[in-house]
Amino acid sequence: MNTLKNLQELIEDAVHELQYPVYPPELYEPITYILSVGGKRMRPALVLMACDMFGGNVKAAIPPALAIEVFHNFTLVHDDIMDNAPLRRGKVTVHEKWNPNVAILSGDVMLVEAYKLMMQVDTSVLRQVLEIFSNTAVGVCEGQQIDMNFEQQADVEIDAYINMIRLKTAVLLGGALKIGALIGGASLTNADLLCTFGEQLGIAFQLQDDILDVYGDPDKFGKQVGGDIISNKKTYLLIKALELAGINEKKILNNWINSANFEPTDKVNAVKAIYNSLNIRQYAEQAMQEFADKAFVALDQINLPEDRKQYLRNFADGLMVREK
Ligand code: IPE
Ligand code: IPE
Ligand code: MG
Ligand code: MG
Ligand code: MG
Repeated sequence: MNTLKNLQELIEDAVHELQYPVYPPELYEPITYILSVGGKRMRPALVLMACDMFGGNVKAAIPPALAIEVFHNFTLVHDDIMDNAPLRRGKVTVHEKWNPNVAILSGDVMLVEAYKLMMQVDTSVLRQVLEIFSNTAVGVCEGQQIDMNFEQQADVEIDAYINMIRLKTAVLLGGALKIGALIGGASLTNADLLCTFGEQLGIAFQLQDDILDVYGDPDKFGKQVGGDIISNKKTYLLIKALELAGINEKKILNNWINSANFEPTDKVNAVKAIYNSLNIRQYAEQAMQEFADKAFVALDQINLPEDRKQYLRNFADGLMVREK
């Protein structure tokens, strides 16, 4: 078995070897730009770890791991347009550095490039892998649309929120693991358990992302802190705050949600002050821990010696205390 560090080096080298045509530069430069630095490369690491766990050939899992990372980066480029985000991984977002049309089209071509990479999977599992990949991609789009719908919707319930983040974020972690497992020769039962582990972990991961969006350190987070508050994202924090708020706090929250002209930092500070007074961060962290625990239950059920599962366990523990 490999160490996590070893797998991450394999990914980093492979990402840097990806090459795209030079013409037209507006189409291809954003790909190299977004892929160049700063990402945690978590999803490709999951593909490789899943393959490795079951004794598969890690080298054969590199193209699909890259496919997942390129796909993820495509979703980020489009997500940043949708979220009106100025920063990504500490750098100006693609639609701001170039323009939204460039970000749309260059994102589109990244999706195609992701499929081309995925096509390199051994034919014995190719059809199965492409089906998982396609279903995952559709799920992400569904989640992203629901996320956008919720910005305009006042009464979003926690369950609906959890389903939305399961789709926009968690299915990709599950899909990455399932693809890696199948390439590594896992049984469908074990691959499905690993997929469940990934989905539950993915929900915890997005809860953490929502927490960091409010409480992250701007120097480390790499994204605009407070962006979710500014755009009325129905995050766990906002939904819980609306649930726990007294009449007065609810009025203040709703005023900010409905106000069209405001100074962004005023809104962020005011909403954050209410979150603080209601201990919202603790509630969100508790929810995150509950989903992480569910993930570990699925991992426990996988029929493999404990030492084979250990680095996935360590990896998941590490994710829960991340700062970016
Ligand atoms: C960002 O994903 C999008 C979410 C699902 C929250 P990551 O936090 O994995 O982003 P990078 O790839 O490390 O930049
Ligand atoms: C995005 O969720 C999930 C996808 C990119 C599909 P967010 O909008 O919270 O991700 P960040 O915070 O911009 O990375
Ligand atoms: Mg978004
Ligand atoms: Mg976003
Ligand atoms: Mg976010």
